[in-house]
Amino acid sequence: MNVTATACKTALITGGNKGIGFAIATGLGKQGYSLWVGARDVRRGQRAVGQLVAMGINARLLLIDVTDDESVNAAARRVLKESGHLDILVNNAGIILGADASPLEQSLAEVKAVYEVNVFGVIRVTQAFVPALRKSESARVVIIGSGLGSLGLVNNAASIYSTANFLAYNSSKTAVNAVAVSFAKALAPDGIKVNVIEPGSVATDLNEHQGALTPDEGASVAIRLATIGDDGPTGGFFGHEGVQPW
Ligand SMILES: NC(=O)c1ccc[n+]([C@@H]2O[C@H](COP(=O)([O-])OP(=O)(O)OC[C@H]3O[C@@H](n4cnc5c(N)ncnc54)[C@H](OP(=O)(O)O)[C@@H]3O)[C@@H](O)[C@H]2O)c1
Repeated sequence: MNVTATACKTALITGGNKGIGFAIATGLGKQGYSLWVGARDVRRGQRAVGQLVAMGINARLLLIDVTDDESVNAAARRVLKESGHLDILVNNAGIILGADASPLEQSLAEVKAVYEVNVFGVIRVTQAFVPALRKSESARVVIIGSGLGSLGLVNNAASIYSTANFLAYNSSKTAVNAVAVSFAKALAPDGIKVNVIEPGSVATDLNEHQGALTPDEGASVAIRLATIGDDGPTGGFFGHEGVQPW
């Protein structure tokens, strides 16, 4: 990638302060992107920005809680005002709740709380940033889905994803696949590509560091889809081995 060409290119990663989001930020920053590091907590966000800047990366903190309309709208206004456009939006922020709850007993309140981040957060953020994405010459939206959201994989006994039956989390990640397809169709006339990726099983706080891959390894699929050319796909679901089953 030509660093000069990407020097003024701008990317936002929600939940960019740690885990896979921080690794995506690091990878895009090293390619020369100017970063908005999305974080809901000012201290955690500043710490991450400090680490990125120490690596020579052009990074700024963007306070954004994806569950909060006002926070998201204020963040979108700020990016449009200060950057004038957004080339890459990575919808990375995500949570899991009740990982040990039976699907037959998990409370609706917990399911709604997971959807508020993993599904409604993606919708809220993407809609708010459309004006900034439309100001880019070739914008890309990447949504961090999961193999656990793939009905094909969770129903395949040979898949590592077939045994983890998390009602709220898995179904939220299935829902976001449909959201991605819908946004991909709606944004196609603008040349904006929208894809979902599944990073593999990555050791982060989300799974108490039980994953097999490092955050940098997990981030690679998202970075690839965030930087695809105009001949690249849209409305697809990708993992380390390419196209994933819905
Ligand atoms: N780890 C895996 O194996 C795996 C596999 C498949 C998909 N994923 C997905 O990858 C994405 C990143 O997860 P991770 O594993 O890197 O987990 P993580 O280390 O727990 O990071 C999650 C990030 O999301 C942020 N976040 C949570 N709620 C938010 C909110 N309301 N507004 C803004 N940011 C919020 C967190 O911020 P705080 O630091 O403030 O909490 C944190 O920055 C998630 O979408 C997850 O579902 C992970």
